[in-house]
Amino acid sequence: MVQHTTIVGLREAVRSARAAGRKVGFVATMGYLHAGHIALCEAARRECDFVVVSIFVNPLQFAPNEDFSRYPRDLERDLGMLAAAGVDAAFTPSVEEMYPEPMATRVSLPTLSHTLEGAVRPTHFEGVATVVLKLFSIVQPDIAYFGQKDGQQVAIVRRMVQDLRLPLEVHVVPTVREMDGVAMSSRNVYLDAPARLSARRLLQSLHAGRALLEAGERRCAAVEDAMAQVLRVDPSVQMDYAAVVDADTLEPRDAVAGHVLVAVAARVGGTRLLDNLMLQVDAHGVRDLLSAP
Ligand code: PAF
Repeated sequence: MVQHTTIVGLREAVRSARAAGRKVGFVATMGYLHAGHIALCEAARRECDFVVVSIFVNPLQFAPNEDFSRYPRDLERDLGMLAAAGVDAAFTPSVEEMYPEPMATRVSLPTLSHTLEGAVRPTHFEGVATVVLKLFSIVQPDIAYFGQKDGQQVAIVRRMVQDLRLPLEVHVVPTVREMDGVAMSSRNVYLDAPARLSARRLLQSLHAGRALLEAGERRCAAVEDAMAQVLRVDPSVQMDYAAVVDADTLEPRDAVAGHVLVAVAARVGGTRLLDNLMLQVDAHGVRDLLSAP
């Protein structure tokens, strides 16, 4: 694996790979890698011949009161994990390399960015879309891989690719979980033992929502209430939302049907956690939209 810290260097490596007829897969990360990121690399490894992974903690997607400066970082460990996963190129630019002067450009998808996470983090997705488009323009991948856990990010990136007719595919890889069911996240490192126990409520809440759907309930509000109740019984969990929305538009619905994102977010011991299910709900019942490889 070769580490590139400059845009020019990375572009040259991708150009050579492409000239040799290799299909380019790309995984964007903010580092502090875990098994969820490695699952993205493995999917890229299976489907592509040249895998690029970026590690860049993007200041644009953090509000001033958020954890940019204390976001966990361990580049040496990350590079070892990527090499072991068979990644070809690690792109690890500095903030100065990515943003040599303040960016006057922003990519904004207002209809998808101001609900759910966006209601709590109003500038977050503009920062995400801007850096992801910039990374796509640097790497020019054939396929980009994103994790299901960030369900709203998936909808936003997909819609940006569709609207701008970017010449790449977006593949979504199912959430990888810890042994106790908590969705893998770099921020899990902030959880102490009691918070870790409470973090399990998120998946329990999703399971409660799914169980109601499987029992035939189709009113969104009823499913959301059942999910919220599971979160509210634990005083260490401050719920931000428990929502059932259209998986593509993220719009709320009265009745559950088609592709839906069943999503929860909560603050547990001061750490913000997310989890979701991506489901197809129709006359045949309820099934997962994504299946493990
Ligand atoms: O999901 C993340 O880690 C980030 O939002 C991403 C896609 C790497 C953009 O900074």
